[in-house]
Amino acid sequence: MIKWGIIGCGRIAHRFMQGLREVPDTELVSAWSRRASTVDAFVAEHGGIGCTSVDELLATDIDAVYIATLPDSHAAYSIAALKAGKHVLCEKPLTVNLPELEQVLAVAKDYNLLFMEGMKPAFYPLYIRLKEHLATDPIGPAGYVRAGSAVADCPPDHPNFNLELVGGSLMQIGIYEAFLAIDWLGQLQDVQAMGRYGQTGIDMFAVFQTLHEGGYSQLYAGFDLHGKGDALIAGPLGHITIHKNWWNPARATIDYLDGRSIELNEPFTAGGLNYEIAHFCDLIKAGKTESPIMSHQLSKQMIDLIDKARAEIGLKFPSEK
Ligand SMILES: NC(=O)c1ccc[n+]([C@@H]2O[C@H](COP(=O)([O-])OP(=O)(O)OC[C@H]3O[C@@H](n4cnc5c(N)ncnc54)[C@H](OP(=O)(O)O)[C@@H]3O)[C@@H](O)[C@H]2O)c1
Repeated sequence: MIKWGIIGCGRIAHRFMQGLREVPDTELVSAWSRRASTVDAFVAEHGGIGCTSVDELLATDIDAVYIATLPDSHAAYSIAALKAGKHVLCEKPLTVNLPELEQVLAVAKDYNLLFMEGMKPAFYPLYIRLKEHLATDPIGPAGYVRAGSAVADCPPDHPNFNLELVGGSLMQIGIYEAFLAIDWLGQLQDVQAMGRYGQTGIDMFAVFQTLHEGGYSQLYAGFDLHGKGDALIAGPLGHITIHKNWWNPARATIDYLDGRSIELNEPFTAGGLNYEIAHFCDLIKAGKTESPIMSHQLSKQMIDLIDKARAEIGLKFPSEK
């Protein structure tokens, strides 16, 4: 049985619980959030002990902590949980920037505990099946990725628009695009970016293109346009379309140079976080401190890409000034 505590009981924490219920041999033991009303409502719905402080939560009988606060506090809570001897699954983006992530990874290493970023698409059945299919029916080495997402329906009080809470399109959405580009094209070599700011000082819309050892990507993220949300991955023998919304992948088409078109359909269940949770629990049981799929190196490259894109458009968060 893997016993869980949750820090931050907002929208994604509810979806985490939808997933956790599907993973055998797991249990929610405790939850804590800043406001007592949030905690009370959460444990009333999902069970577990409602705690009144982070220290109280970390003193409960738990193996792992899921950190679902906003990115301004991910590093501090990750470090506190690791120092309390708990494995940590932390929401994306892991930290405000790469130096902060390096501090967290050093603590995870010192305490010999599992630490992983909750970058969900990597674990979806469609994404895994796609890679399995390509292993026997390849498109050749991927040389180009085009992807993006813009959502125009966030309410104005959403944390995405809050600079202090490390909102903005690059941090909140662009990190998914960074994952896709690095996962298919490899080591990052260069980033170019443009972006426009909103009234709250966050990047409202950003376009960024990247050079990797395997080729180029063209990416976008935003909050004031209704974007398309599919992804294109091209190789010399064909191209893949991961249909919208590619970050919750369920359907892909592979069009081959020889005229064949292969459709892959793998609907996801329980909101989709169940797959990363199951992977994380398997790693704990196997005594691992790092995921081979969502490795520390991959997380470092993702936040490095976003750091570099932010530098290009001059975006700094309050903790960086
Ligand atoms: N994987 C995914 O599919 C996905 C989807 C959406 C978001 N996310 C990520 O998940 C994280 C949370 O997003 P969300 O949409 O769930 O935000 P949210 O609805 O605002 O939830 C965050 C919760 O954390 C609590 N909180 C915030 N700051 C805190 C702090 N310093 N200490 C303690 N509690 C704090 C707040 O609770 P109180 O009421 O107690 O203040 C709030 O309910 C973000 O990093 C976001 O990027 C991931």
